[in-house]
Amino acid sequence: MESKKVIIVGSSRNKGNTTRIIESVSKQFNIDVVNLSQYNISYYDYESKNRDDDFIPLIKNIIEKYDTLIFATPVYWYSMSGIMKVFFDRFSDLIRIEKETGRRLKGKKMAVISNSHDSKIENEFYIPFRKSAAYLGMDYLGDQHFNADQFEKIDEIKLDFI
Ligand SMILES: Cc1cc2nc3c(=O)[nH]c(=O)nc-3n(C[C@H](O)[C@H](O)[C@H](O)COP(=O)(O)O)c2cc1C
Repeated sequence: MESKKVIIVGSSRNKGNTTRIIESVSKQFNIDVVNLSQYNISYYDYESKNRDDDFIPLIKNIIEKYDTLIFATPVYWYSMSGIMKVFFDRFSDLIRIEKETGRRLKGKKMAVISNSHDSKIENEFYIPFRKSAAYLGMDYLGDQHFNADQFEKIDEIKLDFI
């Protein structure tokens, strides 16, 4: 059975470079998209007072429907975007208050798409993703960086991890 994939987008603007790139990628490869900016997901809370925000229903739905989670982020200050980092921090809920859901990440696949105005970025950028995948028992498929300024010149998008 073909693995069902989703691209999870975390950018601070809705009609920006990341959404533009992901729109093309999702069309070409026929991959569903979840845009984190459409959800109310607050910072990780040790007391779990935010357990009723959108994070838990969203991640449950993603886990239910998809086997491959592709995270798409712009480079903000040499790191993933803030909205993406908040989403990742909330994975701590999955090892504390929603363990059953968290365990279901095991065996799923993870990949990353990044973009900035450069054609290449350091491999270190992907360390938090790679290590999180390992910690969660996910298989890290790889990553791909796009230069947002050159993207339109690409005839056919190639994703090494697909
Ligand atoms: C807050 C912020 C921080 C950024 N930091 C970096 C950076 O560290 N390195 C870099 O190459 N580009 C950086 N950029 C440029 C973005 O990576 C680039 O414009 C990207 O295509 C933006 O995608 P977006 O339109 O989805 O926000 C930064 C942009 C913003 C808004």
